[in-house]
Amino acid sequence: MPPLVEVLRQSEHFLKGKGIATARLDAELLLSHLFGCKRLSLYLHPCDNMEGHLLSQFQHLLSRRGNREPLQYIVGEVDFYGLFIAVDRNVLIPRHETEELVGMLISRFENRPIGSILDLGTGSGAIGLALAKHFTEANVLAVDANQDVLSIAQKNAIRNGITNIRFMVSDWLENVDGTFDMIISNPPYLTDEEFENAQDEIKKFEPKFALVSKNNGLADIFKIIGTAGRFLAKDGILALETGSSQHESIASFAKNYFGKFESMGDLNGKDRFVFLQNSTKI
Ligand SMILES: C[S@@+](CC[C@H](N)C(=O)[O-])C[C@H]1O[C@@H](n2cnc3c(N)ncnc32)[C@H](O)[C@@H]1O
Repeated sequence: MPPLVEVLRQSEHFLKGKGIATARLDAELLLSHLFGCKRLSLYLHPCDNMEGHLLSQFQHLLSRRGNREPLQYIVGEVDFYGLFIAVDRNVLIPRHETEELVGMLISRFENRPIGSILDLGTGSGAIGLALAKHFTEANVLAVDANQDVLSIAQKNAIRNGITNIRFMVSDWLENVDGTFDMIISNPPYLTDEEFENAQDEIKKFEPKFALVSKNNGLADIFKIIGTAGRFLAKDGILALETGSSQHESIASFAKNYFGKFESMGDLNGKDRFVFLQNSTKI
């Protein structure tokens, strides 16, 4: 049986050949997933040789990654804002940009009481759960269009011991009642063309329904902006993650529904988030 360092070396070579830029890291993460240990432990307590049955399990994981399946679907979870979020192919893998949005909202509401939060298109539940964990006094409602998606979000709530959140099937705000201090959404916002040009990890494995929207990627954003106003409490905020070239169109559309529009950049300096306030529909 080959020593572990040799297995890692060959795996890195294999994944590089498949065009994966993070080949070594991915090989290490897959191996530590298989061993149920931290990545560093692979080097701190290296076993000399890999036994046959482990080696074949590892080769199976490696071939999935070589086929460009995202690492997060293979290991089945992702760290989002300090939470362990289980993911499978029904749900989008939560992104770092979305963590940034959560961080921005937490800063904004830090010194302000917050009783109710609505997460539209919750997917894995990442946004709603991170906010529910931080704002322990708030009641969070998380909705998505289909129950398979919500089952994963519900499991994530249980897994993280978060109880101030409930889940509901709804086509955006269709089944929603009441008002909220914060409405947040990371809706589908890619165009068909952007999806077709995306890397294989996205195009072949992530749910297209979670990513692509009609009308140049703007249909769902416009639907939310057009209907969310009457669900906002006084001084409430509607926060959206968007595509980086969409802010001009969104600003122009949103002025029919909201008095205040803010465009915020992500850490890469791209227009990424929109904050809307002072709904004309209250
Ligand atoms: C970009 S994903 C965001 C998932 C998660 N909130 C996140 O940030 O990782 C968009 C989500 O919106 C949901 N969705 C799409 N159309 C919807 C609709 N009409 N009503 C409610 N949810 C919808 C999808 O199922 C998906 O979970």
